[in-house]
Amino acid sequence: MSFEQDAPLNLRPFNENLLYASVDADRLMASRPEYIAGIISELLDLMTEKRLGIVPVTLFSASRVEEAFRLMARAKHIGKVCVAIRDSELQLRVNPPRRIRPDATYLVTGGLSGFGLETAKWLVDEGARHLALVSRRGADAPGARDAIRYLEARGATVRAFAADVGHRVDIATVLDDIAATMPPLGGIIHSATVLDDRSLAEQDRASLDRVLGPKAQGAWNLHSLTADLDFFVLYSSISSLFGTRGQANYVAANCVLNSLATLRRRQGLAASVIQWGVLGETGIVARDVNTAKYLEQMGLSAMSIDDALMGLRDVIYGDLESLTVVEADWSRFAASLVPMAGDRRITLLTNAAGSGAPGAGAEVIEAFKGLSEEGRRDHIQALLAKIVTSVMQMEEPSFALSQPLHEVGMDSIMGLEIAAGLERAIGLRLNALDLAVGPSIEQLAQTILDRLTNAAPEERAA
Ligand SMILES: NC(=O)c1ccc[n+]([C@@H]2O[C@H](COP(=O)([O-])OP(=O)(O)OC[C@H]3O[C@@H](n4cnc5c(N)ncnc54)[C@H](OP(=O)(O)O)[C@@H]3O)[C@@H](O)[C@H]2O)c1
Repeated sequence: MSFEQDAPLNLRPFNENLLYASVDADRLMASRPEYIAGIISELLDLMTEKRLGIVPVTLFSASRVEEAFRLMARAKHIGKVCVAIRDSELQLRVNPPRRIRPDATYLVTGGLSGFGLETAKWLVDEGARHLALVSRRGADAPGARDAIRYLEARGATVRAFAADVGHRVDIATVLDDIAATMPPLGGIIHSATVLDDRSLAEQDRASLDRVLGPKAQGAWNLHSLTADLDFFVLYSSISSLFGTRGQANYVAANCVLNSLATLRRRQGLAASVIQWGVLGETGIVARDVNTAKYLEQMGLSAMSIDDALMGLRDVIYGDLESLTVVEADWSRFAASLVPMAGDRRITLLTNAAGSGAPGAGAEVIEAFKGLSEEGRRDHIQALLAKIVTSVMQMEEPSFALSQPLHEVGMDSIMGLEIAAGLERAIGLRLNALDLAVGPSIEQLAQTILDRLTNAAPEERAA
């Protein structure tokens, strides 16, 4: 190893008339087999004649393997430390396969709607027969009573608790009630969430509490008020790995969940965290067409609930500490995360060299053929309006094309996202200055037209 790593050698020991030679036995065996065979037979003779002793061996039975490693770690041994696998005393500890038990209670926060409800249905399909579903509105949430009837029809006993998981007293009361009236708690899935998106500058104590309360404080309450369980699953988000614009409070809350899973594992407690990508069909994104569109444009597509539940299954049955379950077009995702360009988490996911946009706006120049000057301007302005409304999560452009974009809410990160969107669409890269002045769509379109005209001088004559 040290030879390959070209490690330096201190020379002081050689002051004692020492010789240091390197023999590569592997290569010697291949290049001079007869020579090596001669040495081995000479050695065997010396051993048979007991003129050469074998190295001392300290033998441990397999059930004492720990002591063997301790001895090695102290570097006090001479010769070989061996472990004999044949050991009549050996007792293997096999972890029983995990399963969802019919005689345990499973608590799901946020379990009366959205993905929490889908989780509750999955638990019942897997054999759970006692569910405690917690949300602030409890059985009064829209659709909750139908959901409870559905679960009961599949053989489960369901208790719906109206409680705020972020309030320690509330959730302690729920846990006491479960302990007194239901089978012992077997597992928890923490799915409760609330969003309150706003720019970092607009975050205040209230917006932080609103989001950190149910998620982070809620998770901590569940952690500190329960003993060890078969599983303790926290629903986090991919946003905790890469950040999302306008969601500093949500990202922070999910980061707390990621860290809590690590902390619990270190304490020897069950813990898993899942960073979900976009969930389709139900839940917070499925209810919000604009957000879904925005995420899709970032390269994050909605995954089916069935696919998501397969991730949950892997986590629970495989006892995984952390799993990210996401459906993503990584090239688009990387291109949309301009502030993180070069981050290894991104470059490892994409073949960075191959993920760039096509150069010099070739396609758009092609589309320009036959268009008048006016037609070209309209084309670019329409494209820009589409990118800007998508980045700003608007249904329709609610601003004039002559209005400076910073007046309609474009900040520097949005500027980078608009630039990334334009690069993806036509392969033309705007520079920071083009956007720093907060231009209008009309001005931006003119900049692009000038750039494209310079890129295709032959087109000027057309
Ligand atoms: N949907 C996605 O695409 C997506 C993506 C990434 C991560 N996730 C994560 O997956 C989980 C489920 O999301 P979802 O889409 O199903 O959300 P959802 O549809 O909005 O459901 C959230 C649930 O949490 C409950 N809740 C909110 N605050 C609560 C509190 N203080 N105490 C108790 N319950 C509370 C809500 O009921 P009440 O209003 O009655 O309290 C609701 O049942 C969340 O942790 C979310 O962060 C989802």
